[in-house]
Amino acid sequence: MSRTVYVNGAFVPEAEATVSVFDRGFLMADGVYEVTTVMDGRLVDFPGHMARLERSLSELDMPSPATADELLALHRELLERNGLQQGRVYLQVTRGNPGDRDFAFPDPATVAPTLVLFTQETPAPEAIGAARSGLRVISVPDIRWHRRDIKTVQLLYPSMAKMMAKAAGADDAWLVEDGKVTEGTSNNAYIVKNGRIVTRELSHDILHGITRAALLRYAREAQMVVEERAFTIAEAQAADEAFITSASAFVMPVVSVDGAQIGAGTPGPVATRLREIYLEESRKAAL
Ligand code: PDD
Repeated sequence: MSRTVYVNGAFVPEAEATVSVFDRGFLMADGVYEVTTVMDGRLVDFPGHMARLERSLSELDMPSPATADELLALHRELLERNGLQQGRVYLQVTRGNPGDRDFAFPDPATVAPTLVLFTQETPAPEAIGAARSGLRVISVPDIRWHRRDIKTVQLLYPSMAKMMAKAAGADDAWLVEDGKVTEGTSNNAYIVKNGRIVTRELSHDILHGITRAALLRYAREAQMVVEERAFTIAEAQAADEAFITSASAFVMPVVSVDGAQIGAGTPGPVATRLREIYLEESRKAAL
């Protein structure tokens, strides 16, 4: 079935949605994005995603394409028009179409940003089998640029890392820099040892996951101990449990790293409980 997508002020059938070949998103990867989960037709962690979008835009001196209220209205209308109950909304903003290719940024007074929103349907979280079997990850060097806290559309290396994982018979890759795990290809990484949840601290080295922020809040509310620090692959392999978080995976157990089984090699109790808490709280708070 054809989706309705939003492009620069209009809701159109996907086959009619177009962006210029001179768009800086296409020519320069000069754009940022957000992914918001939809559960039961409602938006999960929406204020967090919009706050991060504002931050990404301002770090890149890119004008905002719309206010937070306007973006909420656009998200809701898009869900309505597509009748989406379970899935995601992708929001893409670029520095627009200056009409020519040039390394210098165009004047924001004359070139408007490009704004695109589209939906993608997914099974309900409870129907995702990987949550029961857990993921196998491999480690690969993190050779991305050094502003990973900005959610840019420069996703080539994460895509390559995903392909390396597939080629190795695994599900995903954890990126390693200076001997420590930064994050997953499109998710934040965690281990659990002696009941303590360990995940890398926030810096320019990782994306400040919105799911991460919500999950750590729920974990602390449930009296769980959280340690924000980097860890090594060896530490992960010797951990009791491991998992990842993202808007698309929620909380997803990891059962092996570079072929070494973690704990019992099945999803652990902490990851399983955190997934339940996250899904329950997200449903309650969704907009
Ligand atoms: N990815 N780290 C990276 C590199 C990511 O791309 C993502 C999200 C995360 C988790 O962030 P959040 O919890 O806010 O989704 C961490 C999205 C889902 C994607 O690119 O599809």
